[in-house]
Amino acid sequence: MSENATKAELRLCARLELDEAAASSLIAAMRAGTSSRQAVVLSPLAPEGYIPPFACEDMSAHAWLPPRVYVPVAGERPTAHEDYARGLYYSLDLSSCWESAALAVVPAPEASLDLCAAPGGKSMLMVARYLPACHTANEVNASRRGILRQNMALCGVPNVEVTGLRPDQWAAEGRLFNLVLVDAPCSGQSLLCKGIRNPGCLGAQMVNGNAKRQKGIMLAAVQCVAPGGYILYSTCTYDPDENEKVMAYILRRVPGWEAVEVPSLASYRSTLCDFPAYRLLPHHGCGAGGFCCLLKKI
Ligand SMILES: C[S@@+](CC[C@H](N)C(=O)[O-])C[C@H]1O[C@@H](n2cnc3c(N)ncnc32)[C@H](O)[C@@H]1O
Repeated sequence: MSENATKAELRLCARLELDEAAASSLIAAMRAGTSSRQAVVLSPLAPEGYIPPFACEDMSAHAWLPPRVYVPVAGERPTAHEDYARGLYYSLDLSSCWESAALAVVPAPEASLDLCAAPGGKSMLMVARYLPACHTANEVNASRRGILRQNMALCGVPNVEVTGLRPDQWAAEGRLFNLVLVDAPCSGQSLLCKGIRNPGCLGAQMVNGNAKRQKGIMLAAVQCVAPGGYILYSTCTYDPDENEKVMAYILRRVPGWEAVEVPSLASYRSTLCDFPAYRLLPHHGCGAGGFCCLLKKI
């Protein structure tokens, strides 16, 4: 274990029940800030057979890799190519791609809602997998909603409406979707591993505040799902209070929901709960890390 680890770092590792080696590597990653791993996802504008104009890693060992996702080799700058400016692909962190891997077990939805959508990465990953007849990309923050709208337009996402309702307003709308994405606002602890300053993100105050907001968003999200439909919950933070415990709260509090196994993520299964939920840490080598859990309305 890192000898000069702070109380907050040690507290997080204890809450994650990490062994000494895993704790040391998480603390080292949070301090080094070099775990970011870039990926790109092809947009609907990329024609059949399109291959990105830069060298990519062979990721065939990763069964979870979503369709139309490529990982540039170190040193490549995908955003410098003209095809990026033309919207043929969208650039994002590989962890985000991992968080969407659970969609592999979700049938193509007729109608989908991305409740926390800006700047649009999860919506892009979803439409790369299947094009819903109607997709709603929702973002409460007005300036972020503008960026979301630009990204959806640039990348030619069809059948998409961009909206700005709060989750409780969506719940009151009474519209039902087959798939709701909740890529929740969170304490963003993984930002540290990308070298982005995030003061207070390991503290109880920040974590508790986010956990409360996440539970509220999820209580609204469950009201937006049609029978047999799904919610994919994800965050880019490590604390169990914002992840497993939010899912446990919903499963306990709202009848008629179950967490779904995702076979391609089996090796990432969380040991912190007795239902299927998955967590990625920096030492897995696929970016700064995150959490995902797929819920199904029975
Ligand atoms: C993790 S980001 C979403 C990233 C996006 N899904 C992507 O992949 O590009 C979370 C988003 O939730 C929005 N948000 C903040 N508070 C919210 C709330 N109370 N309800 C719904 N969304 C909220 C933020 O503005 C932010 O855009």
